[in-house]
Amino acid sequence: MVCLGNICRSPLAEGILRSKLKKNTIIDSAGTGSWHAGENPDQRSIKVAKNHGINISQLKARQIKPTDFDDFDLIFVMDESNYNDVIKLTTSFEQQSKIKKILRDSDVPDPYWGSDEDFENVFQLLDIAIDKIIVQHNLL
Ligand code: 4NP
Repeated sequence: MVCLGNICRSPLAEGILRSKLKKNTIIDSAGTGSWHAGENPDQRSIKVAKNHGINISQLKARQIKPTDFDDFDLIFVMDESNYNDVIKLTTSFEQQSKIKKILRDSDVPDPYWGSDEDFENVFQLLDIAIDKIIVQHNLL
């Protein structure tokens, strides 16, 4: 799961996906940027996840790295800008084909400058999108 900072959207996506899949599935998240590397998720993401029974408080932000394109089968990005940034880092068509926008035709809005309500909206968008990708990609 990939967003810009790896502190708002992608840690939520990681937590939601993990809550729905078997324990042996390897799930991680990363940011295209490095500014927040080493930080825990934004307090508002931690809170909205907690409201829905998911604990993401221990996650640590990191920047996406070249080995991710080989280590993971699927890479979901939150918006068009993430998509373009991630595609630039790939070195083969095989790597490119792993990258999908999690909402396909639209973006998960960046809630960083927003309100608690924007974080709840992101949670709801991701929760529905993740149910869909679980079916589409046969992840159960
Ligand atoms: P995220 O949100 O990409 O969902 O983690 C952001 C977090 C930090 C910044 C931007 C977006 N930032 O500009 O620092």
